[in-house]
Amino acid sequence: MMSFRRRGLRVVAALVAVSLLAAACGDDDDDGGGEASAEFEFFSWWTGGGDSEGKQALLDLFAEQNPDVEIVDSAIAGGAGTNAQAELANRLLADDPPDSYQRHAGKELLEDIEAGEVEDLTFLYDEEGWRDVFPEGLLDLITVDDKLYSVPVNIHRSNLLWYNPAVLQEVGIAGPPATWDEFLAQAATLEAAGKIPLTVGPTWTQQHLLENVLLGELGPDAYTGLWDGSTDWESPEVIGALDTFTQVLDHSNLDSAAADWQPAIDPLIEGDAAYNVMGDWADTYYRIEKELDWETGYNATTSPGTAGVFNFLSDSFTLPVDAPHRDTALEWLKLAGSKEGQDTFNPVKGSIPARTDGDASLYTGYLAMPLADWTSEETTIVGSLAHGVVADNAGKAEIDS
Ligand code: GAL
Repeated sequence: MMSFRRRGLRVVAALVAVSLLAAACGDDDDDGGGEASAEFEFFSWWTGGGDSEGKQALLDLFAEQNPDVEIVDSAIAGGAGTNAQAELANRLLADDPPDSYQRHAGKELLEDIEAGEVEDLTFLYDEEGWRDVFPEGLLDLITVDDKLYSVPVNIHRSNLLWYNPAVLQEVGIAGPPATWDEFLAQAATLEAAGKIPLTVGPTWTQQHLLENVLLGELGPDAYTGLWDGSTDWESPEVIGALDTFTQVLDHSNLDSAAADWQPAIDPLIEGDAAYNVMGDWADTYYRIEKELDWETGYNATTSPGTAGVFNFLSDSFTLPVDAPHRDTALEWLKLAGSKEGQDTFNPVKGSIPARTDGDASLYTGYLAMPLADWTSEETTIVGSLAHGVVADNAGKAEIDS
């Protein structure tokens, strides 16, 4: 489990033993890198409804503040970065980095740090006074040997069960299930009424569901132990949780799984399905793309068995070694880490600020829930598998196989 409560608190379990990993970054010179020029290539996987709106709001603000900069938005479609990360790996291998790219805080970023792909940004943290405005537990996830390597822009929540309240009402279900057993009981009612109990999309969405079934069935301590080696994958508890996962999938549309996370949510909106487990970027899809109202048009609660737990991930941005337009990339990173940047981006992205001093009045509707939970003393924080906190890309692939 992790502790992120404002300042002064640390990751309490050795979930990500960042400090033990050797820094292999090849460029410690703050003044190194490419030439200044009025261009900026931004690399992410934010395309399509629900993913692109927040990015656009931040890029628009960057354009307004840097009118001479030509922005090249190299976004590659595919939720959770499945396609983008493969393309990025090729570009890094070919020494052809963009000016800044998206990486999840945690193990996913550590791979790049170890490979010497990203610049040490400690000087930027010192210049901007950022050490005091990000939770220490989050900074630990992007630190190796006391050096900070990326700028986190948000906190997303993974353990959410989205639902259509009208569908539940139509079939006479009082409310969303508090446990997976309860879900399985509801599934029979839903199927008898011709509804899909739970929708899924491509492999990464199934891994997203898997992490939250494991969390709900095992609890936060044993879930965390799966990634630091203290929970045995062969134990009866884990085997039981994996069996629950299989049963849950039996009540999904796995056979006709949607192409990405947005089309997996559409059957809920159309009234054909009841539930979907997805991160809170779904809030933007419902609210902005589909113009639905929180609680009446769409609703969400913690995924079964995870009340009081916040399974988190954080999108962060890097300064690649040899970024072609290092100066403009630094301007971008300053904006991404600023209060103004985070309060422009997050209310549209469906996330809450990584900074601890965001303007709470901007986080209404669904977003009031994660903001309250993230900062509550009562909440237990754990890291996401599918979104790079507790495993790197190789580790994720191993789980998939
Ligand atoms: C996550 C990412 C989110 C959102 C989501 C769906 O990995 O952190 O910001 O983009 O994928 O694509």
